[in-house]
Amino acid sequence: MDDTQFDLFEHLVTSHTGIRLRARQRALLQTVLQPGLVTLGLASFDDYYRMLQSASSESRSEWNRILHELTNNESYFFRDKGQFALLRDRILPEIISRNSETQTLRIWSAGCSTGEEAYSLAALIEELLVALTNDRGRQWDVLVLGTDIDEHALVQARRGIYGSWSFRMVEPSIRNRYFRESEQGWGVSDAVRSHVKFVLSNLVADDFPSVATGIENIDLILCRNVFIYFDPTAVSLVLQKFADTLKLSGYLMTGHVEILGNKVAPLKTLSFPESEVYQKVSTASQGDPQLDLVAFQTPRKENKQFIVGGDEEKEFLSNYHTEAVHDSHSSNTASGPLSRHETEPSGSESLEIVNHSRSLADKGHYELAVEGCHRAIKTSPFAPEPYELLAAIAIELGQFEEAKVWLKNALYLAPASAQIYLELGHIYRSEGEKQRADRMYRSALELLKDLAPETVVGAPGSPTAAEFMRHLSEISEEAA
Ligand SMILES: C[S@@+](CC[C@H](N)C(=O)[O-])C[C@H]1O[C@@H](n2cnc3c(N)ncnc32)[C@H](O)[C@@H]1O
Repeated sequence: MDDTQFDLFEHLVTSHTGIRLRARQRALLQTVLQPGLVTLGLASFDDYYRMLQSASSESRSEWNRILHELTNNESYFFRDKGQFALLRDRILPEIISRNSETQTLRIWSAGCSTGEEAYSLAALIEELLVALTNDRGRQWDVLVLGTDIDEHALVQARRGIYGSWSFRMVEPSIRNRYFRESEQGWGVSDAVRSHVKFVLSNLVADDFPSVATGIENIDLILCRNVFIYFDPTAVSLVLQKFADTLKLSGYLMTGHVEILGNKVAPLKTLSFPESEVYQKVSTASQGDPQLDLVAFQTPRKENKQFIVGGDEEKEFLSNYHTEAVHDSHSSNTASGPLSRHETEPSGSESLEIVNHSRSLADKGHYELAVEGCHRAIKTSPFAPEPYELLAAIAIELGQFEEAKVWLKNALYLAPASAQIYLELGHIYRSEGEKQRADRMYRSALELLKDLAPETVVGAPGSPTAAEFMRHLSEISEEAA
């Protein structure tokens, strides 16, 4: 394939899917395309290009194959505690109260991947409907629609069976309530499953709102960790379609900072400590300053058991904000919450900073969290934790090159950490570097073998050695 052909294919991928290829994926592209050309018995890349542009079934199945290789399907249950707390405490109660007459809910997980986000929403709604409306008789008509461009991911989503790794941020009591353990893994309960439907849909190429696909009159759209891979033109296009698909007063939630500076007329930004959300307002009321208060005035229902993290973290956040601002106004000498002692800070203080930074990152305050990590590194240069958190933030933001550098630093400081090997393995795997990924997984496995099965690997609340081992065997089964 010459450079011109390569550029054409790259452009085709972006115009078909919205996805802007990163350096690694560019390198992967030719490797992904070549087997298609051979299998389909086409004479040249030009023929192959024309075939992909056509509307044939051959083209559809070839796109399926290509996209499965190029897309990142990483997902897990209740991803982003802050955003789920906001949904639980404010957004969903408000929608439920607004729809109490019709007793319907229409929620869309756009770019749902393997289904964890859609099922998390359905479980949360089950919980809230009982708590707020005592809907034990299931009077409410609830639809959580999950859509994705990747058919392989949807097959897994419809199956609804997950390994323990997908629950790494979920309290066992919640997992046990909505999932049933079997030999194959954890299966979604019938109650949760009954609300959820998965449909193949391309956010860029498909029309919506659409009666045919049922993507219309939506109360809440979650589209998280999808736009970070998109070309800016595609983001604007999809945002406009989202706005048209939402009901009036409906909400859109994206990943943090995914659409900053990309405003669409009927979507009004509401800022909460946990996250920004966008509400569809009538264009006539655009300038109304009262609108920003809409969501803040909804009653706050506590349901602490569901997802950890709440007032305590918010209090920290507000203290942190005040002090961080103070810090930014002070001179170069260290001050502020993260280095307020005159004496040399201890390793445990560095750990405290990292923990606080982690809770900031959970709420999407990535800049503050990154700043915290750098302070922690300054106070305890040989602690691996800040590097691990920097890597986690970089992964969340799709900055995989940066993530690898932080992880390698962490590994240098903590050479016996199975978790770091595992994270590196995941990045290599998503980049198609199978051999490197396998090497990382093998190293993780070697380290885990020496641990008692119930040992918690990493920070408190992280999976146990046995859960890690199970995850690793799931990965190798998938690869086989
Ligand atoms: C990283 S996953 C996000 C999953 C989930 N929303 C979450 O935050 O955990 C991104 C998903 O977006 C999907 N995607 C990428 N481009 C898409 C498009 N044009 N239309 C629909 N889905 C798309 C990918 O297939 C992938 O499953």
